[in-house]
Amino acid sequence: MPLSSRHLLGLQGVPKDDIQLILETANTFREVLERPIKKVPTLQGKTIVNLFYENSTRTRISFELAEKRLSSDTINFSQSSSSVKKGESLKDTIRNIEAMKIDMIIIRHSAAGTPHYLTKICNANIINAGDGIHEHPTQALLDMYSLKERFGKLEGLKVCIVGDVAHSRVALSNIYGLITMGAKVSVCGPSTMIPRFIEKLGVNVTYDIDEAIRDNDVLNVLRIQLERKAGGYFPSLREYAKYFGITQERLDNNKDITILHPGPINRGVEISSEVADGNNQIILHQVTNGVAIRMAVLYLLGTLN
Ligand code: CP
Repeated sequence: MPLSSRHLLGLQGVPKDDIQLILETANTFREVLERPIKKVPTLQGKTIVNLFYENSTRTRISFELAEKRLSSDTINFSQSSSSVKKGESLKDTIRNIEAMKIDMIIIRHSAAGTPHYLTKICNANIINAGDGIHEHPTQALLDMYSLKERFGKLEGLKVCIVGDVAHSRVALSNIYGLITMGAKVSVCGPSTMIPRFIEKLGVNVTYDIDEAIRDNDVLNVLRIQLERKAGGYFPSLREYAKYFGITQERLDNNKDITILHPGPINRGVEISSEVADGNNQIILHQVTNGVAIRMAVLYLLGTLN
C-alpha cells in the first residue's frame, strides 16, 4: 500500500499504517547503509531541492545524503546566499525554483505552516524539515525507528519528553507519532515550558524529573532553544540544569533508562556530558537512523507520482 498523502507535513493525523510503512521501509535502507556501496538507483532522474531558511546540521546533511544514496539530483538552497537577501518573497522564490522542473522540496522555515503553504503554491512533493515551533516529522520518525530498534516495539513503551516542550517541534511530532503507535507519552519540564491543556493531546504531565526518570523506559531530552528566547522562561541556565538537567547521578534512579536527544546538545544544561557520552544514550544511533528514515520518506513519496 502506498502512503495516504503525497506530502509529509507533520505527524498529526498521519495513520498508523503510514508510520508503520515508513519504519518498515527504513529497515531496508538501513541495510543499504551498511553495504560497501551505499547507493541504489531508486530516484534516478528526480530532482530534489533542500530549502533551508533556518540553520541545520543533522537534518540538512541527512536529507542530502539520503537523496544522494537514492541517486536523485540534489540542489541546496540557503537563505543567506540567495536572492531572499535582496528582498525576494517566499512565493516568488518557490515559483522560480519550481520553474526549473523540480520534483520535491524539503523545507525548513522559522514560520509554522510554511510547508502547508507551499502545497498551495506549487506541485512538488513537500517534506517538512521543521517549521518554527510546530512539527519536525522526520525527527520523530527517526526517534521512533531508534526506539523500535532498541525495544522491538513502540506499543506500551513509556516515553517522557523533557524540557522546553513549549518551543519544540520535535516534542509535538513525537507526541502525535508515539500516541498513534500506542506508546504511553508524558512530558516533564518547568511549568513555564509546558503548554496549558497539553493533556488534551493524550499525554501525562509531571514537573518532577526524578519521578519522570523512575517511571519511564525512555527520556527524549529536548534542547533549550536559546535562539527562541527560551532563556526567559526560567531564572538561569544553572537553575534549569539543577532542577531538570539529566545527570548520571539522577539516572541512578533507573539505570536501564534510554536517553534520546535530537541535537544539537547544550552540554551541562539539559544533559550532562557524562550522560551525553554515556551508556544510556543512543544519540548517534538516532543520527545514523535519520538517513535511513529520510531515504524511506523520499522513496515512498518520490515513487507515488
Ligand atoms: N535535530 C535537528 O533538527 O538538528 P538540526 O537542527 O541540526 O537539523
